[in-house]
Amino acid sequence: MKTNRVTIHTLRQMKERGEKITMLTAYDATFARLLDESRVDILLVGDSLGMVIQGQETTLPVTLDEVIYHTRAVCRGTHRAQVVGDMPFMSYQTGVVQAMENAGRLIKEGGAHAVKLEGGAQHAELIARLTAVGIPVMGHIGLTPQSFHQLGGFKLQGRDAATRERLVADARALEQAGAYSIVLEGMPSEVAAEVTAAVGIPTIGIGAGADCDGQVLVIYDMLGMNDSFKPRFVRRYEHLATRIRTAVDAFVADVQEGNFPGEDESFFLEPERRPVRPQATVSALAHVGACGPEPTPSSDRSDEHSDPFYSTPHRPK
Ligand code: KIV
Repeated sequence: MKTNRVTIHTLRQMKERGEKITMLTAYDATFARLLDESRVDILLVGDSLGMVIQGQETTLPVTLDEVIYHTRAVCRGTHRAQVVGDMPFMSYQTGVVQAMENAGRLIKEGGAHAVKLEGGAQHAELIARLTAVGIPVMGHIGLTPQSFHQLGGFKLQGRDAATRERLVADARALEQAGAYSIVLEGMPSEVAAEVTAAVGIPTIGIGAGADCDGQVLVIYDMLGMNDSFKPRFVRRYEHLATRIRTAVDAFVADVQEGNFPGEDESFFLEPERRPVRPQATVSALAHVGACGPEPTPSSDRSDEHSDPFYSTPHRPK
């Protein structure tokens, strides 16, 4: 079957051609559809969902069932991007058989096209077994959040010669075992560049400088959904926290002041005899300078009873 999906082969070719790979996290179908339309190459259903969706302090409490649930939703929103399901803490560390069953669930039940797991050489056997049964594996080395307690926090890795060498050795072991790409998180740019040059598979950096083959960010971070979280490696492309608050404040004010819903947003039994209300004053949105309400098509009142309550959502082909 011919596919327009980004595959592990597409990504390998991109590295060979020197084309940068884009990856963002996604946790639901609506975001997935938008990111897919923008041709993001890989959508990662990261265990970061524990922090940005569930409000946990770390990624450690996330369960496999939760990642499967979000992966299913993300898959429904995509046509082109590769969807990678993150193996959560303790879903692959207790033994190869259990790890394979869990990775299999991410593919079978979640619909993921690949799985990601944290760690280097210690997982070589598992990765070899997974790729042998047809499950592509993305590695993840450097700052590995599932080792939060062992690392003593979210700290930059690879600062001394010994850990730098270990990172290069881990990357080579992952490639040798069959991993198709590696996330490099939280390490100096020079170290990430050395790792990237040492392997033939693409590296995807986060807080690892510009010399990786691609870049990944947590979608909520790059959209500025949390004003109090702005680590150095994140570039905010939006300030959605402010914009969302502005929009919601306007909704609250509109409802409290009787400005929402307006006539065009209401249904009437007898449209031609509907009560004449003074035209709603300017929406609170206009006061705050945000984008105003969507223009509503002027409705043909005589036809109002046959209007569907919801119009069919647009689904990209
Ligand atoms: O869980 C996650 O979102 C990740 C990325 C930060 C790489 O592992």
